[in-house]
Amino acid sequence: ADLPLILGIETSCDETGVGLVRGCELLSDEVASSVDQHARFGGVVPEVASRAHLEAMTPTVHRALDKAGATLADVDALAVTAGPGLAGALLVGVSAAKAYAMALGKPLYGVNHLVGHVAVDQLEHGPLPKPAIALLVSGGHTSLLLVRDLATDVQQLGDTVDDAAGEAYDKVARLLGLPYPGGPPIDKAAREGNPRGIRFPRGKWGDGTYDFSFSGLKTAVARWVEDSTREGRDLPVADIAAGFQEAVVDVLTRKAVDACLEHGVEHLVISGGVAANSRLRALAEERCGDAGITLRVPRPRLCTDNGAMIAALGAEVVAADLPPSTLKLATDTSLP
Ligand code: KG4
Ligand code: ZN
Repeated sequence: ADLPLILGIETSCDETGVGLVRGCELLSDEVASSVDQHARFGGVVPEVASRAHLEAMTPTVHRALDKAGATLADVDALAVTAGPGLAGALLVGVSAAKAYAMALGKPLYGVNHLVGHVAVDQLEHGPLPKPAIALLVSGGHTSLLLVRDLATDVQQLGDTVDDAAGEAYDKVARLLGLPYPGGPPIDKAAREGNPRGIRFPRGKWGDGTYDFSFSGLKTAVARWVEDSTREGRDLPVADIAAGFQEAVVDVLTRKAVDACLEHGVEHLVISGGVAANSRLRALAEERCGDAGITLRVPRPRLCTDNGAMIAALGAEVVAADLPPSTLKLATDTSLP
């Protein structure tokens, strides 16, 4: 029999995402972003994001259905991000998903956004070998996960103790006078700089945990900017960007590879917006190659928040025969 058609809805941050999948097959992936409305604030404004989700929800659902050549009546089950994320933003997606589920008489599954970032890799590279280690790096998260089963067994090995990796990129870009979101312009500027010119601190390096810290690094960049300004020197933007980026990706890749080796895991997935980073990809490739680990990085479009990742995880949950959520499904802003 045909695998069920899953419609996934994602609204945890500033992306209204709706995707349709069947098993590991991606049928459509539509995203409406409010990023432009947040740019002048240098970060996501929750209330602005919620209103944008409300406006984008219905048209995005219909675009996703059209692109997949499907109608609402073809949908077999719905999956929606229940958390973690912004409270008001999550509520829009969960409310919409409940309404569709009730109107269509189809089951609804509330799923974890972070695990969705891992599940999406299956749409590009096929079924994820078990177990796998996942490194999630975005504006909101920096987590290392041990994934034994996407639907039923995901263990968090470590997390950031302060800023997320993408947040550090965004804050440092602001210090350097580069636009928001800061990842792409720093990635670009770093190509012109010397990654070993300025050595920035590696937070929580070699501390025996899988946790991360980026606030000390951000402070170190701030001090550089202050000193240069006070002394009337030109800011070496490219060298700071390159040194900062090297410090971030050095710790990320080292801890991810260590986690694979400690747990005897041969597959590493890197996902989230920061997975688009060219230096992170290159260094991860190099270190995984040295350690005999197979690296899986979904294309950038799938790494950033989208609805297909939620549908991909929904497909796993349906396949695992887990019970659907009820209409009492609650959002959880800090879902672990
Ligand atoms: O996954 P995402 O789109 O949204 C969430 O935060 O969930 O990630 C956005 C983050 C931003 O902080 C952005 O600066 C960062 O991903 N980013 C990058 C790059 N492209 C996007 N960071 C480093 N290098 C990049 N090329
Ligand atoms: Zn995300």
